[in-house]
Amino acid sequence: MSQYLNLSRAARLIGISRVALQQAVKEGKLESFDGMVSTEDLLAAFPDASFGDDPVFERIAKIREEAFGKRVRERILPDREVLAARLFEQSVELADYRRHLERYHAIVVNALAKLKALSGSRSEIDDLAKWLNHELEAALVTEAPDQLDAMEGYLRIVSAHVLLQPSGREFFVEGKDTLLEAALRAGIAFNYGCSGGNCGLCKARVVSGQTRQVRHHDYGFSEAEKSMGYVLACSHTAVTDVVIEALEAGRPEDIPRQTIETKVRAVEMLGNIVKLSLQTPRSSRLRFIAGQCVTLDGTEYPIASCPCDDRNLEFHIPLEDAVAGLKKGDAVSVQGPFGGFVLREDSGRQPLFIASGTGFAPVKSLVEHAMALDVFSSIGLLRIAPELYLSNLCRSWEAALDNFSYAEVADLALLPDLLDRDVYVAGPADFVAETRRRLLEEGLPESRIFSP
Ligand code: FES
Repeated sequence: MSQYLNLSRAARLIGISRVALQQAVKEGKLESFDGMVSTEDLLAAFPDASFGDDPVFERIAKIREEAFGKRVRERILPDREVLAARLFEQSVELADYRRHLERYHAIVVNALAKLKALSGSRSEIDDLAKWLNHELEAALVTEAPDQLDAMEGYLRIVSAHVLLQPSGREFFVEGKDTLLEAALRAGIAFNYGCSGGNCGLCKARVVSGQTRQVRHHDYGFSEAEKSMGYVLACSHTAVTDVVIEALEAGRPEDIPRQTIETKVRAVEMLGNIVKLSLQTPRSSRLRFIAGQCVTLDGTEYPIASCPCDDRNLEFHIPLEDAVAGLKKGDAVSVQGPFGGFVLREDSGRQPLFIASGTGFAPVKSLVEHAMALDVFSSIGLLRIAPELYLSNLCRSWEAALDNFSYAEVADLALLPDLLDRDVYVAGPADFVAETRRRLLEEGLPESRIFSP
């Protein structure tokens, strides 16, 4: 029996990006009704999808592990209680299907008996009885389990789909993540403050579906809020697929300035650049938009990680700077965020990033954010020598993602096609000025060129 799935879930099921599936719908390879596709059409359009040898999470895990360079989360299963609640929901649904099937079966058996009771001369009645008998027998033969349906059932147990209103953005909640953590991982600028259940800024109204509290919170909801179905996104997770109403930060001005005491988690030498990894306390993570800067002990640096990277903050520091001398475990005061070098995700154009030197830091943040958003059909990255540190990471992005292209060049002699691009340029001031001049010369309007 064919089921209808939304595009996000269908894309996960066959292990491709949502943007690639949207492309297939646009090109007429796959039919979609109100943003839903049938499992039957999905299999017809992607006959090579293999759910046994190439589990759906393999590609996602590959991108997370190799491309994002992040720690793969130790577990994929949610809390025991959430798992039990999801299994319970599925068994209720299953019992419901079974009840319906039994009722239909009884109706057909009764109809057969009634047909037999009619005087038997009319051949049409005999034919109808034969046909009903045949259909009934055929229905009783156990069909081979449908791999797609089975996989869909499995996905619904290990993850829940969230539709965010009024923006219409979508994401999945996996593992032990709260709604807030899952939204941030998906590149969504969910409104929040303390991330520890105190301030109430992450309030969300549950429009449909079930959520469950998985972290302690001290915030007191009013009776009116309780009756309207408000929950805290930083302390609740989704048990079933849910629709929630919540605020998002659309612009850098929406993000308040924060001061956070962090610890150095790791220091790594990348040629003449020091990769500094900081970690914020669990109870106060830094809220920022990809591409923004902060000050570290008073000096301004762009953040090289994206908000999707949990409590981890990455910076690329020139060797001669004072903070390059920090050691693992040192305390660092972070203040910010600042700056408006952020992704224009609603422009309708594809991003091209051009970076030189430590200009790669904010660009890395933007690229990771663009990947997490999964809304672009093409992401280009051009790096200009020298200081092509982390180039293996860029190559692994290209290997893991079909919509990502990467090139390293000595200068800007040859620019890629700029027709449908927004261009983000970062690096030393003279490099940015020269690149901007070249882009304008190529006919790119000023309004489509962005730099820190
Ligand atoms: S972010 Fe403060 S209560 Fe959730």
